[in-house]
Order: sequence, then structure tokens, then C-alpha cells
Amino acid sequence: MVCPREQQSDTAYGERMKTNTDKVSTIAGKAVDKNTVTIINNRTGESFDFPIMDGTEGPSLFNISTLYAKTGMFTYDPGFTSTGSCQSGITFIDGEKGILLHRGYPIEQLVNSSNYLDVCYLLLHGELPSKKEQLEFDTAITTHTMLHEQLTSFYRGFKRSAHPMAIMVGVVGALSAFYHSDTDIHDPIQRMVAAHRIIAKMPTIGAYAYKYSIGQPFMYPQNSLSYSENLLRMMFAVPTEEYKINAVSARAIDRILILHADHEQNASTSTVRLAGSSGANPFACVASGIASLWGPAHGGANEAVLKMLNEIGDKKQIPKFIARAKDKSDSFRLMGFGHRVYKNFDPRAKVMKDTCHEVLNELGISDPVLPIALELERIALEDEYFIERKLYPNVDFYSGIILRALGFPSPMFTVLFSIARTVGWIAHWKEMFGNEESQRIGRPRQLYVGTKQRNFKQIEQRKQKTPDWLRLWGNRRS
Ligand code: CMC
Repeated sequence: MVCPREQQSDTAYGERMKTNTDKVSTIAGKAVDKNTVTIINNRTGESFDFPIMDGTEGPSLFNISTLYAKTGMFTYDPGFTSTGSCQSGITFIDGEKGILLHRGYPIEQLVNSSNYLDVCYLLLHGELPSKKEQLEFDTAITTHTMLHEQLTSFYRGFKRSAHPMAIMVGVVGALSAFYHSDTDIHDPIQRMVAAHRIIAKMPTIGAYAYKYSIGQPFMYPQNSLSYSENLLRMMFAVPTEEYKINAVSARAIDRILILHADHEQNASTSTVRLAGSSGANPFACVASGIASLWGPAHGGANEAVLKMLNEIGDKKQIPKFIARAKDKSDSFRLMGFGHRVYKNFDPRAKVMKDTCHEVLNELGISDPVLPIALELERIALEDEYFIERKLYPNVDFYSGIILRALGFPSPMFTVLFSIARTVGWIAHWKEMFGNEESQRIGRPRQLYVGTKQRNFKQIEQRKQKTPDWLRLWGNRRS
């Protein structure tokens, strides 16, 4: 079913982004449109104007989509540090002030007053649900949680010791085989059904990955439970015993899910958008997002934080690890610290820290890594290196400690992140269809630095030095 607000929200932001071209100013005696940026090629003296685009919040952009046609040149921006890839009305981050808004609502308010499924509805449709919409949406999700029985046989193809993120990439990708011919991505209703399916099935897929690794039977989802309760039950229940849901644990999971639900154009979301721009199946697009999330610089950081805290092992060791993080000849970084966008506290990290204390207190758990984490944070925040570079704890710094207290093994931390972020990925995928420009296939350019055109050499004419990889490989084998 399509909410009328969906169509409204998918197109309304496009209207707001229209470029304002009514003001003129004079620069060096020449009348220029004030709402443009002028680029001068100092090799030729030619100048080119590009229209400025204003959003509702945050920095303006200037539109260089005609740059190559006008100048014969591309821009260079590895890591996309200054490049906007789309217009979006879903999430806004002010990294300098440490603000995160979903559809205008501050993350702290959503965490304290809402629940995960309401936040999913908000991200997908642009507004919080009314009572009727809430009931319809929750029912739609609840009734899509089961997996096709045939899909469960995919798990048996993996080694029991496989990393659960590898299983997630495989099984979610395989979902596209079950819902391909009946998923017409140009039909908004089918897009919505695909969104419901994937949001509903992710906890089941994730929990089965865990059950498979420990050799326990899969626990089917139960419709009477909430999203977070269901996740806990599928993870930790066994068929032989009654499973009692712990309300503190369920609330903590719900908060963690909300805190990870979306984060605008991060690496995994951009991956999903890029995959989706070719018209690919949405489940395959989400699988590509999971693959991107897995890396330790992104969602894999929560697992890496816990590994690091265990490795530190004692507060006395902290200065040694801080020194390593600052040493440019050492690849070690303080995991759970720093962010491309936040140059202030990550607002999610603050909530996560409070939740961490709450959960440990209420469950009566004393985790030896918590005092190490607190001390590491204190020392790093007072250190010139971290101050200068504006490196603060991010969302991953405390989430692992909470998840460990709730009984999740560390390889499952990033799986939890992927379950939560699925709504963000699919909301962005869905948003692409409301904007014609965003539907163009994504195709970045490059600066070619390879060999210039040359003629083919017969094998007798080839005198080549041993390539680096072969030399290194030889060294390793000897
Ligand atoms: N420890 C030590 N130094 C750091 C760290 C860190 N965690 N993060 C950044 N720096 C330094 C970096 O060496 C560089 O120093 P210099 O200017 O002297 O060369 C400077 O800070 C800027 O770093 P960058 O690599 O250019 O920043 P980036 O925006 O490309 O990378 C990041 C952002 C998150 C990948 C990086 O901060 C990092 O690797 N952090 C640790 C991994 C982590 O916690 N990732 C989770 C991110 S939040 C969850 C998510 O969104 O997925």
C-alpha cells in the first residue's frame, strides 16, 4: 500500500531546491547573476558561471553538471569530500554543531519518544505515522518477517565459522532470486512492498546467521512480538524452553536500531544508490550496501572497537595505544573515533553512552572494558592530536559494549547495524525514483594516469621488469 505522503515527500523537496536566479550584481564592471559561482581557467582566462543551489538547511552547492560541456574538464574529489551526489529530503547532519535530524526531527527526540518502526515510517514517508498508519505499517512489517523456506537452505552452503556479515551479503543477495520477476521498480506500490519485505526480513536473516554459526535450530518469527522483541527471541530462544523477553534489553535494541537507522550519503547508502541507479533489483542493492558497511572504517568499526578495548586490556596500556594512533608510520587508529562529517560530538554517541550505562546498571553487569573505554575517551579528548583534528567518539564507540551486555557475540555487531540501516538504504533507494536527475545512472569520471596509446608488442619484443606483486609473492613464499 502506498501512503499519499510518500509521493508528496518524494517530490516536494525537489520543488524547494529550485535555483533562485533573480538577483544580479556587478563584479569588475560586469553584470553577473548573484546566484552563481564563477570559475576562471587561469590557463586560458575563460570564465564560466554555475548556478548555486540552496537547500532548506546546511551549506549551498553549486551545480557543475554542465562543467564538462562548458570547460572540457572534470572535477577531482577522491572520497567525495566536497561533492554532493543527489538531492535528499530524508536526513540532515550539521557536523560542526553535532546535529542529526531525520525528516526534521532531532535524533535525541526520536530515541527518547519514538520506536524503531515509527522511525522507519518517518524515513520512508516523511511524517510520523498517525494511529491508523502506525497500525497498518506495523501489520505490514509483521506479516513479512518469515523467509521462504527454500531460502533457509542457502545457510547450509556456508561454513559454520563464516563471518555473519558474509552470510548477510549472500542471503540478502539471494532474496533477489525470490522476488525478481514480481518486483517492478517503476511501480511505487511494488517499491513499497519491497521496502516492507526487506525491513521485515532482515532481523530473521541476521538471527538465522547467528543460529547457524552455533548449530541451533532457526527460531521462526512471532507476530505478537515487537520488532526488537522478535529479534531478541529469534537470536536467543531455543525451541525446548519458554523465552522471556527482557524489557530493558528490548528497549536498548530499539534505541540502537533508531540510532543507526539512517545517516544520509555515507559509503553504504551511496553504494545502494549507485547500484540502484542502474535499475538493479532492490534486494541486490541492499546486499551491496551490506558489503560496503562491513568495512572497519564504516559499520565494522563496532566490532573493531571491542577488539581494540580487549587488546588494550588495562588502563595502564592506554598511553601506548594513544601513541600508536598518533604515529603516522603505524596503521593503527583509535576505532570508534573520528568521522568524515562530525567535527564535534556525534549526537548518536552521546545517547549510546547513556544507554550503555543504563543497560549495564539495569542488567547488573560489570564489564571490565567499560572503565577502559571511559578512560580512553577522557585521555583522547584532552590530547592535542585529537583536539586539533576534531576527533570525537562516534556511534560505534559504545554500541559494542551494550550489545555484548545483551549477549550478542562481536561478529554480530555489524549485522545489527545492517538490520537497522536497511530502512535508510531503502528509503534512499525509494527517494531516487521521485527525482529524475537522481535516476541517471551513476558514473564518476577519472584522471587517467596510465600509459598513453601504443602499439601491441609481440612476446619476443617484451622486456619487462618483474611486477611488484610477483616480487612480493616470491619473497613471501621463500
Ligand atoms: N585515530 C587516529 N587518527 C585518526 C582517526 C582515528 N580514529 N581518525 C582520523 N584520524 C586522523 C587521520 O590520520 C588524519 O590525520 P592527518 O590529518 O594528520 O593525516 C585526520 O585525522 C583526518 O582523517 P581522515 O582519514 O582524512 O578522515 P576521513 O574523514 O577520511 O575518515 C573515518 C573518517 C571515520 C574513516 C576515520 O576517522 C576513521 O578511520 N575512524 C576509525 C574508524 C571508525 O570509528 N569508523 C566508524 C565511523 S562512524 C560509523 C559509520 O558511519 O559507519
